[in-house]
Amino acid sequence: MKKYVFGEVMIGKEELRNRVIELGAQISKDYKGKSILAICVLKGAVLFMSDLIREINVETKIDFMAVTSYGASTKSTGVVRILKDLDSNIEGENVLIVEDIIDSGLTLKYLKDYLMARNPKSLKICTLLDKPGRREADVQPDYIGFTIENKYIVGYGLDYNQMYRNLPYISYLEEENE
Ligand code: IMP
Ligand code: MG
Repeated sequence: MKKYVFGEVMIGKEELRNRVIELGAQISKDYKGKSILAICVLKGAVLFMSDLIREINVETKIDFMAVTSYGASTKSTGVVRILKDLDSNIEGENVLIVEDIIDSGLTLKYLKDYLMARNPKSLKICTLLDKPGRREADVQPDYIGFTIENKYIVGYGLDYNQMYRNLPYISYLEEENE
């Protein structure tokens, strides 16, 4: 079995905080006079979402969805299954999907099509991290926190085998040299 070790801090607490404030300001400006239904994609986007919505100053409702992504591996399977659907009806709402990271884009592509079929007034995507180098599906986020290289990220909501979500900064895992 491969062993992984932590890399350095990639995005520190302050940098995260400042960028979230900027994103919140941008979103507030773009949605001025409108309302938002922010949909958090569980579990990875929980920390980002809770910080982000506190920086948004237009009327905002929240809801949650859970989809399968990775199992106990660092490679995307491309299999998308809905584990928890929305509680609310999104018809006529300005939906903002809040994601932790877009990697292959397969999850988001599926989600986007799935939600579009329910006739929201508008649908935009806000992702904390974007790994464009690994894109397989044609999906473009409207708001991006940080564009990053191809590393396996952990922290600030992102996990490896459900661990490290509670780190207050973004780090990455590296294969250990034998
Ligand atoms: P995608 O379908 O390949 O774009 O990835 C979907 C999901 O996989 C993301 O929303 C994350 O939850 C998870 N994921 C992708 N890359 C990483 C990573 O580097 N670290 C932790 N989770 C990841
Ligand atoms: Mg996710």
